[in-house]
Parts: sequence; C-alpha cells; structure tokens
Amino acid sequence: MIVLDEYTKYFHRGSINEVIALKDFSLNVKNGDFITIIGSNGAGKSTLLNGIAGVFLPDSGKITLNDTNITNWPEHRRAAFIGRVFQDPLLGTCGALSIEQNMAIAAKRGKHRGLSIGVKSKHRKCFQAELKKLDLGLEDRLHDKVGLLSGGQRQALTLLMASLVRPNLLLLDEHTAALDPKTANQILDLTKEIIEKENLTTLMVTHNMNQALQFGNRLIMLHQGKTLLDVKAEEKQKLTVENLISKFYASQGDNFASDRMVLI
Ligand SMILES: Nc1ncnc2c1ncn2[C@@H]1O[C@H](COP(=O)(O)OP(=O)(O)OP(=O)(O)O)[C@@H](O)[C@H]1O
Ligand SMILES: [Mg+2]
Repeated sequence: MIVLDEYTKYFHRGSINEVIALKDFSLNVKNGDFITIIGSNGAGKSTLLNGIAGVFLPDSGKITLNDTNITNWPEHRRAAFIGRVFQDPLLGTCGALSIEQNMAIAAKRGKHRGLSIGVKSKHRKCFQAELKKLDLGLEDRLHDKVGLLSGGQRQALTLLMASLVRPNLLLLDEHTAALDPKTANQILDLTKEIIEKENLTTLMVTHNMNQALQFGNRLIMLHQGKTLLDVKAEEKQKLTVENLISKFYASQGDNFASDRMVLI
C-alpha cells in the first residue's frame, strides 16, 4: 500500500550539524497492517512519519501509495488520505475553534475545504453521535472551544477527527506520551477500537515496549535512521521486552539504560 524505497533524509546537510535522520530506509506497508515503531531518542521515528505525511521531501528515495509515486506530493495533498495524531495534544486540533467547527474541518478531508466552517444541523447530529462513543460527555459541549479541553479529551477528539473520514493511513506519533497513565490507557483502548473497527492501516510510534508488543501485527525497531528489527505476526507474538532489549544490545552494544525506551 505505502512503499518507501531507499528513503534518505538529512537535516542541515553540508553543515557541521548534519544529521542523517533516515538512511536508505525501505518499508513495505500492506493494507490493514498495524505497525508499531520503537527506537531510542533521535532514531528517526518521527522523521519517518513526517516523511510519509509530506512535511518535507526526501534527499533521495521514493514513496509510492498504491503504485502512485507520491514522492513530490506536498503535505496538503497527502492529507487527503492520511489521518494523524501527534504527541502534543495541542497539535491536530485548533484551540480557538469549537469542537463542532474542528469536526466540520475534519469531515471535509479530501474535499475542497473552502473557507467556511459553518456546521449544518444534520452534521451536528452526526458529530454528536460520534462524540458520544468517546463517553467523555463531549457531545454536550459542541460549542465549547477546543482550547478548554483537557489533554486527554483533546487527544480523543483528535483521534476521532483523524478517523472521521476513513483515512487510507493513520499515523500516530507517541500520541499518549503526554497523558497521565489512566488517560493514556483510555486513549489506547479507543485507538485499538477505531483501528479494528475500520481495519485502518496504521503506523504507531511508541516509546513503550509493552505497548509495541501488545498492539499491531508487525513491530519495527529503528536506530540511527535504520531498521534494527522487523518482526511480523507469530514471531512478534513470541517476543518479550527482554528479547527487544537484548536484540538492541546485541546489534549496538550501546548503553541505553537512561533512554525513554526502557521506561515500561
Ligand atoms: N526539523 C529538524 N531539524 C533538524 N534536525 C532534525 C529535525 N527533525 C529531526 N531532526 C534530527 O533527526 C534525527 C531523528 O529525529 P526524530 O525526531 O526522527 O527522532 P525520533 O526517533 O522521533 O526521536 P524521539 O524519540 O526523541 O521523538 C535526530 O537527530 C533529530 O535531532
Ligand atoms: Mg519523535
């Protein structure tokens, strides 16, 4: 479905701060795949998701979506088929607009958006029904500004908006990392529910190894812009956190005892 072919992304190329965030990175994502992505800080996880979303163009390599070469497509064109939820609850929604105005914008994904954010009553009913599923009481707060919501409420709304018009691809970048453990678990349950119900093709970055093992049908560990580990299906089910840690040590010998990746 989405294929990255020898994708390479530098930052500050040619300067003393040069970083190769992704190096000749190849990945073949199949329809319905739910891939969890782990890796130490700076491994290239966010760069991978940003690269797919078109936040920047690669230095070399190619991206195809269902056999269409989208390597040079700008971000807004890709947004027609991609839903995103970020680590920061403030991203992904507009705090100055109401819940229903935000949802109206999300409902127009893939269509010509225009400037109007007016909400028709038939849409309002549909938004209310969707919000009710979250069980956070947001269906009674349609006119509240999103800036008034808590981090967890806002991430739940972002997730709902990302999947309101079924995306071909859902990109989740540590979307529960800024939440308290209880709220994080609620958002994760909701994530799982939405992905399974809609059979969404998903890439989920997490720093939590247990989460990475528990969710999805494929797990990828990145390190310094390259794939360190790529396990699928039954092989993934047999993996343990200890396996992941020892695989990391075996190939790198790095000491990552203080890294967020082991905070489980
Ligand atoms: N916009 C940018 N400008 C300059 N350097 C960047 C930029 N984005 C990422 N990098 C660098 O590219 C490398 C990969 O960063 P990336 O954000 O992809 O890591 P990550 O795996 O998401 O890490 P984390 O777990 O800390 O979120 C890092 O060295 C980072 O400093
Ligand atoms: Mg990141």
